[in-house]
Amino acid sequence: MPIRERGPVTSPASTSATLGDAEVRALRADFPILAEHVGGHPLVYLDSGATAQQPLAVLDAVDDFVRHRNAAVHRGAHTLAAEATEEFEDARATVAAFVGARPEEIVWTTNATEAINIVAYGVSNASVGRGGAEARRFAIGPGDEIVATELEHHANLIPWQELAARTGASLRIVHLEDDGTLREDELASVIGERTRIVAVAHVSNVLGTVTPVERIVALAHAVGALVVLDACQSVPHRPVDVAALGVDFAAFSGHKMLGPTGVGVLWGRRELLDALPPVLTGGSMITTVSLESAEYLPAPQRFEAGTQKVAQAIGLAAAVRYLEAIGMERVREHEERLARRLLEGVSALPGMTVLGPPAGVDRGGLVSLVVDGVHAHDVGQYLDEAGIAVRVGHHCAQPLHRRFGVTATVRASTYLYTTEEEVDAFLDRLASVRSFFRVAR
Ligand SMILES: Cc1ncc(COP(=O)(O)O)c(C=O)c1O
Repeated sequence: MPIRERGPVTSPASTSATLGDAEVRALRADFPILAEHVGGHPLVYLDSGATAQQPLAVLDAVDDFVRHRNAAVHRGAHTLAAEATEEFEDARATVAAFVGARPEEIVWTTNATEAINIVAYGVSNASVGRGGAEARRFAIGPGDEIVATELEHHANLIPWQELAARTGASLRIVHLEDDGTLREDELASVIGERTRIVAVAHVSNVLGTVTPVERIVALAHAVGALVVLDACQSVPHRPVDVAALGVDFAAFSGHKMLGPTGVGVLWGRRELLDALPPVLTGGSMITTVSLESAEYLPAPQRFEAGTQKVAQAIGLAAAVRYLEAIGMERVREHEERLARRLLEGVSALPGMTVLGPPAGVDRGGLVSLVVDGVHAHDVGQYLDEAGIAVRVGHHCAQPLHRRFGVTATVRASTYLYTTEEEVDAFLDRLASVRSFFRVAR
């Protein structure tokens, strides 16, 4: 079947070793939304940790696909179906290469939440005998332990609580030091002979803490446990090679890395994905079906039941090409510089407390803080009145907030398009929040 030529996809060309201010200002033109005004003020978008903005390369890739090649994949025999299938599988290969994986190890999901749930429910299915002999390696029950940490996003905590409740296994927690790092002593004492799964975030979405993944992998693998990495806040912001990290599964979301909403990724080592029982069942994930039973395809198709999110996957691949053209090490370094500016700026303001590691250690490009005497939601509204978008609340990490004795924080998060001027605009506005709410002169 003839596959028609596709037009070139444009991505920015990286120019110098560091992502300088001039280059950042230039690449902002690729993001139409950054020219928006809010309440008459230029938008200062400091909420990329929740959802990142999308460049024209992504918007155009999605638009071009939907206009010219839209069709269901792996089903039809016509030209559009073949083109859509090819582009969908190319997208998988692009995303795989970005994280050091093989294409067949990349499962498209709706988001990271779904990706983590696929692992948890797959283990659950194995635990009730589904998936045959090869799935038995995943089965857990009473006496077994699942380990998570106190800094997890709810997406990497509740699925394990539920798995424990369904199987009778116990959930154990590694707690935090005051500086937001994981307690080293507990890592070594909690991960033990009974541990079957260790679930941990690579970078905390609240504290910016970078967890010691290699050490966790060594401890877990020494006792035969699997490591599930929540890479939501690392893959978009720094070079990540999942195979080199040595984890067994990893999850991330497209919308946090310049891609569309509605697409995420579950990565798993090939032999694990092929053995894990599927969770969603139905069309497109089978080899043969009788009225009584079905045989499943190997990974990744066995986890991709139903009509797929084709345009979104293609958009995510365009986002990956955009990030690759910039260079992930430059993205990381740019955000590190902005985080330092944020941390130093906030520390210089009276009545503010920053949660998480200080400047100067490896950390994510976001800062969460508490303003003495002013609720985070009021701070957020005060910032919004000046066009500054931050996230306020518990950021889907209630146990973490409880650990630090607060119910809500204000989080400013950066990305490759964030400028120093935006950080300064945030700091300037923050400087007057306490006097505005009359808790300081
Ligand atoms: C660390 C972390 N894990 C998981 C998630 C869940 O991502 P999604 O809502 O895209 O599934 C997020 C999103 O905020 C996150 O920051």
